[in-house]
Amino acid sequence: MNATEKSSKVAVIGAGQMGSGIAQVFATCGYCVKVYDISEEIFRTSQKRILGSLQKLQSKDLIKETTEEIRDRISYHVNINELADCDIFIESAFENFAIKEEIFQKLSRTLKPTSFVASNTSSYSITALSQLIPYPERFIGFHFMNPPPIMELIEVIKGLYTHEKTFSFFWKLAKELEKTPIASKNSPGFVLNRILIPMINEAIYALYEGISTADQIDAAMKLGANHPIGPLALANLIGLDTVLAILKTLQKELGENKYAPCPLLENYVAKRWLGKKTKKGFYEYE
Ligand SMILES: NC(=O)c1ccc[n+]([C@@H]2O[C@H](COP(=O)([O-])OP(=O)(O)OC[C@H]3O[C@@H](n4cnc5c(N)ncnc54)[C@H](O)[C@@H]3O)[C@@H](O)[C@H]2O)c1
Repeated sequence: MNATEKSSKVAVIGAGQMGSGIAQVFATCGYCVKVYDISEEIFRTSQKRILGSLQKLQSKDLIKETTEEIRDRISYHVNINELADCDIFIESAFENFAIKEEIFQKLSRTLKPTSFVASNTSSYSITALSQLIPYPERFIGFHFMNPPPIMELIEVIKGLYTHEKTFSFFWKLAKELEKTPIASKNSPGFVLNRILIPMINEAIYALYEGISTADQIDAAMKLGANHPIGPLALANLIGLDTVLAILKTLQKELGENKYAPCPLLENYVAKRWLGKKTKKGFYEYE
């Protein structure tokens, strides 16, 4: 182990845009990270994404080690049993409850009673997810923002069974990762997505109703409300499938039609126009 390596091993489940970024954050902080996903092909995209991000940060002098030193702390696995020796788990697979359920059931077979487990879910109940593992008191919501290496906030969410020790472990961990934690109640969408996602839905309605064009709607919010990125560009970055899944959870769990997804969003997701990750959403990308 080199001098900067931490002794706890971290597992990140899901190597998409968030899982890759989370693995990068932990590896940059000195942790050895095992990333799990369902196919080797996904790992190639994840490695490219991490390398590109590290090179950008390095060119701005924002990382202390070489990209190789950080990258070499990350390994990739398609066999979930290879995560058995990890101490900290961060689940970041699709925002789909059935998929998360399947993952936690598989993980439960080898999970050590001393490990801490978190989900990066954007909207699901932490209490419900915690009951999928044998030690719900060691389970928490640990919600990174996109992209994790850049964004400062982490929402820390206690479920009904989460032990105070688990909360203080993750609170301190967020600070160690050089992030700023905020505490949120276990309520659909927590703080950020309860506010952000309905705003994005409203922007999609504005486009759907022909109030203005996509770039003009984004310009309105950037120049008129001082947002660093327009709501439609942000939806493309989050992933339109994830935005839709969060809206459906808000609508179902809070029982209010004001969260009903705009039909245009439903159409785009049905066509697999998911934003940046499929190179087409409200804009097109190279
Ligand atoms: N996109 C955002 O801006 C954002 C921000 C905060 C939190 N989140 C949350 O993070 C999670 C991941 O979102 P994302 O944007 O990275 O999605 P993504 O589509 O980029 O990646 C999801 C990954 O999950 C993997 N996956 C699917 N089924 C799996 C399984 N059975 N086992 C292991 N991996 C599996 C997929 O192969 C994919 O690589 C979601 O819960 C989402 O709500 C997303």
